[in-house]
Amino acid sequence: MQVIEIAKDVYCLPAIDWNIRDFHGYSTYPGTTYNAYLILDDKITLIDTAKKEFAEELLNAISKVVDPKKIDFVISNHTEMDHTGALPRIMHRIGENKPLYCSKMGQKNLNKHFGSRWNLQPVETGTELSLGKKTLMFLETRMLHWPDSMFTYLKEDNILFSSDGFGQHYASLERFDDEVGEEIFFHAQKYYANILLLYSPLVLKLINKVTEMNLQIKMICPDHGIIWRKDPGRIINAYVEWAKQEPKRRALIVYDTMWHSTETMAETIAEALWEEGVPTTTRKLRQCHRSDIMTEVMDAGAILVGSPTLNNGIFPTISDMLTYMKGLKPLNKIGAAFGSYGWSGEAAKLINEQLEAMKFQVVHPGLRTQYVPDDSAKEACRELAKKVAEALPAE
Ligand code: FEO
Repeated sequence: MQVIEIAKDVYCLPAIDWNIRDFHGYSTYPGTTYNAYLILDDKITLIDTAKKEFAEELLNAISKVVDPKKIDFVISNHTEMDHTGALPRIMHRIGENKPLYCSKMGQKNLNKHFGSRWNLQPVETGTELSLGKKTLMFLETRMLHWPDSMFTYLKEDNILFSSDGFGQHYASLERFDDEVGEEIFFHAQKYYANILLLYSPLVLKLINKVTEMNLQIKMICPDHGIIWRKDPGRIINAYVEWAKQEPKRRALIVYDTMWHSTETMAETIAEALWEEGVPTTTRKLRQCHRSDIMTEVMDAGAILVGSPTLNNGIFPTISDMLTYMKGLKPLNKIGAAFGSYGWSGEAAKLINEQLEAMKFQVVHPGLRTQYVPDDSAKEACRELAKKVAEALPAE
């Protein structure tokens, strides 16, 4: 494990999980990183840990800087086990009775995960903890994305330890945004789309609160991926934009197909949307992962969902996507459903019901084509595209 001094006496200890490809349903093609942070002062402090399997590696990394037994305080910004799995091993090594600071909900959740075994010290927004020359201040960020989540701010160095906030599932030996470049924004957006999108109203409130508190932020240190040091304001502004979810004149067609009929409909609709001046992306669900599609949902003002009718219902991959998308609560979307069928044809109607449940503005009762689309069915696809284009904002 690398040991990187990110500011004087402040270290990042990144556990790099190069080979993880699925993070409870989120595709992590570039792997991920679980960042712990160590601060040397009169009171030596560890902020967050890593997954259980990285406990020894983390202890070895700490030992390169200081004897783990000399750690005085531990901070747990978030209970989820990618950041606390290593905690039992770490606490055993540094001393089970050392103060462990967490939010009030963190106290509850740590006890639920690990039993009442540690000296938990609940803190709230504004609580300060002096380490000697340096001071930590805590900021509860309830439901971003767990009830226990909080940020820790290092006042003298203007560093925000942001837990999952501003994170990216990204494995690399580079540790800073300026070392990776623009590519990192894609991973940050994918993270937002799949972890934080449903909490967008809370994200906006939190950013307003941070602005009101006038916190100077030189560096944002998330628990996943790289550290934002080049221009931390840029990722904060990106969060504001993502959270606002303003409608865009762009369409995303998500479909699956059995004998290419629904696929033909998807392609016909896409071409017609393009002719209407709507940039459009088409994704077939058996080839594309739901978490990649969710990132594209964020950028689309219209989501068109196509499914053949299978056994009187929706094709399973489409049901999976709809369930996933519903949970993430995208806002301000135009919706439409289409699909081929043989003899019953319920899929488009069922999809529309789900889009309506997500508060999408559904612009068509559901376009159905029996068996193979002929010229008139293709014309109906073009009509559907027109309705979608008319409902989208002009750019
Ligand atoms: Fe990275 Fe919510 O844990």
